Amino acid sequence: MGSTCVFVLLCLFGLSAAAAERLTPLIEELGRPSAVADIFDTSNYGKLQLDNGLARTPQMGWNSWNFFACNINETVIKETADALVSTGLAALGYNYVNIDDCWSSATRNLEGELVPDPQTFPSGIKALADYVHQKGLKLGIYSDAGMFTCQVRPGSLYHEMDDANLFASWGVDYLKYDNCFNLGIKPEKRYPPMRDALNSTGRAVFYSLCEWGVDDPALWAEKVGNSWRTTDDISDSWVSMTTIADLNNKWASYAGPGGWNDPDMLEVGNGGMTHAEYRSHFSIWALMKAPLLLGCDVRNMAAETFEILSNEEIIAVNQDPLGVQGRKILSEGNDECSQVWAGPLSGNRLVVALWNRCSQAVTITVTWETLGLDNTTCFSVRDLWKHETLEGNMAGRLGAEVDSHDCKMFILSPPSTSIVVI
Ligand SMILES: *[C@@H]1O[C@H](CO)[C@@H](O)[C@H](O)[C@H]1NC(C)=O
Ligand SMILES: *[C@@H]1O[C@H](CO)[C@@H](O)[C@H](O)[C@H]1NC(C)=O
Ligand SMILES: *[C@@H]1O[C@H](CO)[C@@H](O)[C@H](O)[C@H]1NC(C)=O
Repeated sequence: MGSTCVFVLLCLFGLSAAAAERLTPLIEELGRPSAVADIFDTSNYGKLQLDNGLARTPQMGWNSWNFFACNINETVIKETADALVSTGLAALGYNYVNIDDCWSSATRNLEGELVPDPQTFPSGIKALADYVHQKGLKLGIYSDAGMFTCQVRPGSLYHEMDDANLFASWGVDYLKYDNCFNLGIKPEKRYPPMRDALNSTGRAVFYSLCEWGVDDPALWAEKVGNSWRTTDDISDSWVSMTTIADLNNKWASYAGPGGWNDPDMLEVGNGGMTHAEYRSHFSIWALMKAPLLLGCDVRNMAAETFEILSNEEIIAVNQDPLGVQGRKILSEGNDECSQVWAGPLSGNRLVVALWNRCSQAVTITVTWETLGLDNTTCFSVRDLWKHETLEGNMAGRLGAEVDSHDCKMFILSPPSTSIVVI
């Protein structure tokens, strides 16, 4: 374990106006082949979209799959809703309670309708939606753009209108739409009919596309869904998490309010990664404007899991109204394991993550030049994991020693005091 060492170059010219001038044009500069545009390329940002009024910021909530897989029932869904409220996580924004695969019976009824499994969901989905709504939360459900779901329950392909009407009649607020048993038909053909069906119900239903990134959905899904998976399923391991982060990074310029890249649900708290690795997972997902969908058993969270998931400063990065996906801007060292990820935030601020993917502690430093900033511009620097503002304003560069597989995350803001005297 190494100690933290932050280099501070005291500011000689600590005028907050300088920072503001430099950062305000970030979005307007788009399309210009400048260094800044390269780093913060949002050339496809905000080409909306679904126009269903949802997903102005990435969705937050919980999904049953990563922890429970098929072992779900109405009791566990209700208890999870209770726990989201009692732990305070709901108040922090985690408000979707999403049921994944296995809620429905193996066959449709004689009217051709989907039927909740009578063993595990005897009260039906409407009752569950009412329960969840009473708590101020929202209910999500799952289906598949194919003949069957991945666990071989009936799929919604060619039943889009009927199923959308049924979901809307139950009061469902969110649909995750999977990709199994798809008959080899292109996702571009299979996903829009459900969008249109949901729209015609008149109920605003968050539409989460899950075609696993097979057909580069960032290139077409912005007008189809509120989010689109960019990769295969995540698993609860460092290798899976880092691989998925890199794959999702590629599509950064396509994310924006209304439509987000989805590198899959969180594994924080499920036991397959260390605390440092989960801190990295949560930091990078937040910075990438990924959906923050808890994947653990929130009824039985360890204190250290809760500490990560309830970090309000990190959540605020994810929910920042500017809605620009941060990205990897520097990778150095063996296997490029010493990394800097960054992105612009509202209020002329930047988020910077120093991510150590190496097997030993390293010092990671980023210069203002790499961030696309004038190196004399001063910033106030906030450490989002320590919850403290570093002493003195900074210019030129930011560096810290970071433990193996850990991640430090900072927000650079124009300083509120105009001049720092040394
Ligand atoms: C349906 O689509 C129209 C056109 O994009 C949009 O204005 C409307 O808000 C949508 N309604 C719902 C319920 O999503
Ligand atoms: C409901 O599911 C949970 C989680 O898998 C399980 O622990 C519990 O025993 C189940 N309850 C019933 C009544 O089946
Ligand atoms: C800023 O950049 C100039 C030119 O590259 C360099 O000489 C100077 O040392 C830098 N200042 C800081 C504070 O890094």
